[in-house]
Amino acid sequence: MRTGPDDRGRYGAYGGRFVPETLMAPLQELEEAHASCRRDPAFQAELNATLRDFVGRPTPLTHAARLEEQLGRIRIHLKREDLAHTGAHKINNTVGQGLLARWMGKRRVIAETGAGQHGVATATVAARLGMDCAVYMGEDDMARQAPNVLRMRLLGAEVVPVSSGTRTLKDAINEAMRDWVTNCRTTHYVLGSALGAHPYPAIVRDFQSVIGREARAQYLAAVGSLPDLLVACVGGGSNSLGLFHPFLDDAGVEMVGVEAGGLGIGSGRHAARFSGGSPGVLHGTFTYVLQDGDGNIRGTHSISAGLDYPAVGPEHAFLREQGRVRYEIATDAEALGAFHLLARTEGILAALEPAHALGWLRRAAPGLREGSRVLVNLSGRGDKDVDQVLAQEEA
Ligand SMILES: Cc1ncc(COP(=O)(O)O)c(C=O)c1O
Repeated sequence: MRTGPDDRGRYGAYGGRFVPETLMAPLQELEEAHASCRRDPAFQAELNATLRDFVGRPTPLTHAARLEEQLGRIRIHLKREDLAHTGAHKINNTVGQGLLARWMGKRRVIAETGAGQHGVATATVAARLGMDCAVYMGEDDMARQAPNVLRMRLLGAEVVPVSSGTRTLKDAINEAMRDWVTNCRTTHYVLGSALGAHPYPAIVRDFQSVIGREARAQYLAAVGSLPDLLVACVGGGSNSLGLFHPFLDDAGVEMVGVEAGGLGIGSGRHAARFSGGSPGVLHGTFTYVLQDGDGNIRGTHSISAGLDYPAVGPEHAFLREQGRVRYEIATDAEALGAFHLLARTEGILAALEPAHALGWLRRAAPGLREGSRVLVNLSGRGDKDVDQVLAQEEA
């Protein structure tokens, strides 16, 4: 299946490059560098060696036998991105972009972060490559994900609090873009999801596709066939695209992306772009956005900072339109329920983001064909979320 981007950076009608004139040159420089690095055997060898020796890839595929007993009738395997260095899939992308930044001769990296996982992953790679690092983070997210703020500082990064707007990921991206416009000669902006202006969605997808390439081979080796269904949570959309992409041509493999249903779609307090959004432009790309009739960005809500963003990566908008991927939601309560269920049945504390994927699966399981083989992307571990989960229990 051809998904793009085309030479204008479009995935069908979606994607593109809607940025101020000053960012056109750095984006073009980045596009050319990415194309060169993809062809450069030395770059690819260093990337693969770093993923193996530093990140700990391949991450395992785990058969979730006790969870299966609870959900009944289906087979469940988990792709364990929680076991990658720094505890989430985000490191796959930051290792790639860090090497790309060094290849372009940049001495400084900046990033935005919501859950803090991407900020930690960027700070980690900056330390390893000896680069300066600044991470923009909304003040609300800093409070929700305090352990990750400490981790970034210990890794030598400057964490810049963002107090504008809703003090979450959207506002952090605005500030990071401002920094990049001013400092792009020396600085590479490590965007953390399959979002933003071309070529970012393609770069992030390429670096994350290692998840699906490994999972496909591991699943075939373990089960002897391909899975029937892939499930992943969708914030900006990088762990899901990373899992889905290498399976897109496997016609028998269904795919479900799970967005944050927050307090329920009817409440208006959610981050489900495909349930309540419409096509529009945010942060340089044309995609599905939560906005009002005048194009003002609507406030979002999710228990998980990593899913709490008003736009979805443009390739997801295209895959949905093609009917290749289906998009569903899980509420805060369903994610919390799945968090506890996984902890008790499998001994795994999942991040609240992938707990949404499991929350949807738990609700949908009775309607799935008996014996369905399901592969869930466990995109990160839940250490960062334990305080928040306990606070919810006490509330
Ligand atoms: C563990 C984890 N999973 C998922 C996400 C959502 O991002 P994406 O949709 O880009 O994978 C995040 C974002 O911070 C995260 O930390």
